[in-house]
Amino acid sequence: KTLCVLISGNGSNLQAIIDRIEAGKLNATIGCVISNQPQAYGLQRAQQAGIDNYCLSHRDYESREAYDEALAALLARYQPDCVVLAGFMRILTESFVNRFSGQLVNIHPSLLPKYKGLNTHQRAIDNGDDVHGVSVHYVTPELDGGPVIVQSRVPVFSEDTADELASRVQEQERQLYPLVLDWICNDRLYMKDNKAVLDNEEL
Ligand code: GRF
Repeated sequence: KTLCVLISGNGSNLQAIIDRIEAGKLNATIGCVISNQPQAYGLQRAQQAGIDNYCLSHRDYESREAYDEALAALLARYQPDCVVLAGFMRILTESFVNRFSGQLVNIHPSLLPKYKGLNTHQRAIDNGDDVHGVSVHYVTPELDGGPVIVQSRVPVFSEDTADELASRVQEQERQLYPLVLDWICNDRLYMKDNKAVLDNEEL
């Protein structure tokens, strides 16, 4: 299967996917990596791995619609089976999301439906939660609201800073995302009627 990965920053999830493929444990090809931020370190990771990579800056486009059109056109060249949002910090238009419906996944650093949006780690600390975590979900037009595929939990310790908690969560992310992509690449996972289905069981 062909994956295209969208990023905005460091790209540690991208790296975990690259490493899993290179280790022969994920039967996929990364067609391309696209960042909306020119300085995203993940672009260098893609370059180092010999993967086609592009900066498509949203600043060069007049509207969200125009940007998403350009993004869809670039992706279409690679005919991805799955578009993987890995720290892509932009809200996608409904028409983009619908175009890739069932082929678009995201990783979000909270136990959805808790803490949609930004600053999830600080919000978990501020609320006194003792458990936090990460979710991988299908993307639908509702922001961070698509069907959850799988979650991983981490403890929150009383002295935690948001950064410490984030790095504990990110350790889990690097395990979880390649696992989900493995299910997708082996045709074990799909979305039907706005539900995630794994091995013929609704999740
Ligand atoms: C991750 O924490 C992910 O959950 C969130 O953005 C961060 C991206 O990290 N959506 P990286 O760029 O993969 O290192």
